[in-house]
Amino acid sequence: MNIRVKVISLLALLFAALIGIDVGIQRQILLPSFADLERDDAKVSMKRIEYALDLSLDTLALTAADWGNWEDAYRYVQAPNPQFVGANITPSALKQLQVNVLMIVDLQGDIVLSSAEDLRTGKPLDIDFAGRKMLPADFPWRRNLGSGNSARGLLRTNHGVMMIASAPVLNGSGGGTPLGFVIMGRLLDKPQVHALAAHAQAVLSMLSEPQAAGERVAETDEHTRIDRSFVDVYGTPVLTLRVEVPRRITAQGRAAVTYASVYLVGAAVAALVALLIVLNRVVLEPLARVTRHAVTVGEGSDLGARLNLKSRDEIGRLAHEFDRMVARVEQSRRQLVDQSFHAGFAELAKGVLHNLGNAMTPLGVRVSKLGERLRAAPVEDLILASAELEGGDVPSERSRDLKTFMHLGSREMAVCLQEARNDLEVIQRQATLVQTALTELMQSTRNEQVIETVRLPDLVSQTLEIVPDACRQRLLVDADESLRQVGTVCVARTVLRLVLQNLIINASDAVREAGRERGVLRLGAEIVRENEREQLHLHCEDNGIGIARGDLERLFDKGYSTKSKDTNYGIGLHWCANAIAALGGRIWAASEGPGLGASLHLMVPLMARET
Ligand SMILES: Nc1ncnc2c1ncn2[C@@H]1O[C@H](COP(=O)(O)OP(=O)(O)OP(=O)(O)O)[C@@H](O)[C@H]1O
Ligand SMILES: [Mg+2]
Repeated sequence: MNIRVKVISLLALLFAALIGIDVGIQRQILLPSFADLERDDAKVSMKRIEYALDLSLDTLALTAADWGNWEDAYRYVQAPNPQFVGANITPSALKQLQVNVLMIVDLQGDIVLSSAEDLRTGKPLDIDFAGRKMLPADFPWRRNLGSGNSARGLLRTNHGVMMIASAPVLNGSGGGTPLGFVIMGRLLDKPQVHALAAHAQAVLSMLSEPQAAGERVAETDEHTRIDRSFVDVYGTPVLTLRVEVPRRITAQGRAAVTYASVYLVGAAVAALVALLIVLNRVVLEPLARVTRHAVTVGEGSDLGARLNLKSRDEIGRLAHEFDRMVARVEQSRRQLVDQSFHAGFAELAKGVLHNLGNAMTPLGVRVSKLGERLRAAPVEDLILASAELEGGDVPSERSRDLKTFMHLGSREMAVCLQEARNDLEVIQRQATLVQTALTELMQSTRNEQVIETVRLPDLVSQTLEIVPDACRQRLLVDADESLRQVGTVCVARTVLRLVLQNLIINASDAVREAGRERGVLRLGAEIVRENEREQLHLHCEDNGIGIARGDLERLFDKGYSTKSKDTNYGIGLHWCANAIAALGGRIWAASEGPGLGASLHLMVPLMARET
């Protein structure tokens, strides 16, 4: 993964994480806090309803207390008379008191007066509680009958839930023995519930069936709902009021959160894009350029290319330093190439000179022989004899001798000239060989190895032509049957010929150093398969001085020679090893030890072979 992808992924991940955290906070903390607010709001509304209900009961209790502490009522309990009822318990009186039920209960729990009516129509109401003769035996307020205590609460009736309040019947001045109590009741009908709702400024409803006592909070998408159950005077649930608060805060909060989230996502994307553009321009693109350049420089050989970044930041400086470094490397390489070229050139020159030296030796021998031959020719004597004869006045005996001399001299001259002509032909051939060798060497310096088809016995005879006579005379070169069996091979003929020439000269030297007049060099060859390729294995075994085991490896080192420093430089085998290596082959030496002869082996890959 490259840096650009990494940076983009990292930034995208970072922003995604930030957005995720933000949305998480909004959903997990902000929105629930809005819901809490709404719940608190609903609870407060329900509290207000409770207060309003309490207030209504308080008002009812006050009315009951006021009415109970009335002398006429006190006397009525002691001696009930119809006038009191006719004068005071009228529909208008109950309407004025805003009660549906008015009852007077004596100390025995008997209901001595009871009136119930519909406040709206003014007609009597058949409320079951008011229609009794006496209080139920289990009515909890019975204990208040003689105590003078007041009470208030709720009661289930056949007309629905009713608020009731009781107050002792007293003598009108707040004293005297309580003679029972007055009970006033007001039905909790729809108008009453509306009044409670108006009081609490809330949406209030009364459930048709009361639920278990206590308070329950429930939430829908639109409302927060609180159900509150109230118990009657017996302690059983009798009324459940429901407050519903619309979830406006949550709705607005959700809208705000959504807006904030969208804004955040938009801002994050914009920031990401802006960041990437800037990052791309300032860091990633220049970095990619530097990287591409470094890879190109690393892979290829073009050290001349430069980045030339204009920016002055760290990457610009890095690029500048990189350019400088590449420039230095380029300079060093140029120097190195120059040096190795010179070194290689010197090496090559030595090899060439050595091979030329090898080729020139027979030529020089032949020329000096020719010189000796010509010097030995009786040229001056023949000239003198001829001058004497031409001068006349020569005695006849002398003239006959001179003629015989000239005759013999001419014959000798003819032989000499004949031999000189032969020598010249050989010299001419050898000079051509030198020239060819030079051309071949020039070609080999340009690494243009010409592959030629050749039969190995021919290669050997061609090689012997460029070996000095003295070497040939010292060596019996025995090309065995295997050379012929190998048949025709495709090889770098000229290189192999020069290598063989070196091996033959070395073998001849080894025979001389072994103190032998003559030696044998056995040449053999076979085709082998090595490294999935056909190779020519050529070996030359002599019976010369041999090689010590420890010296076998050093033979191919440049400058290693055991011969006279004046005539030999230890270059021959070194050049052979390089030339064979250039053909993809190898050369090695083997020997049983000093005095036991040596064999030199060549292994060269074959291009193709004809048999
Ligand atoms: N057939 C051989 N038998 C024994 N020793 C050999 C043989 N061929 C080479 N050597 C040893 O290897 C040495 C290196 O040979 P190489 O041809 O490189 O150099 P050189 O013949 O000494 O000198 P140059 O070839 O430069 O005239 C020789 O001096 C000789 O000691
Ligand atoms: Mg040599």
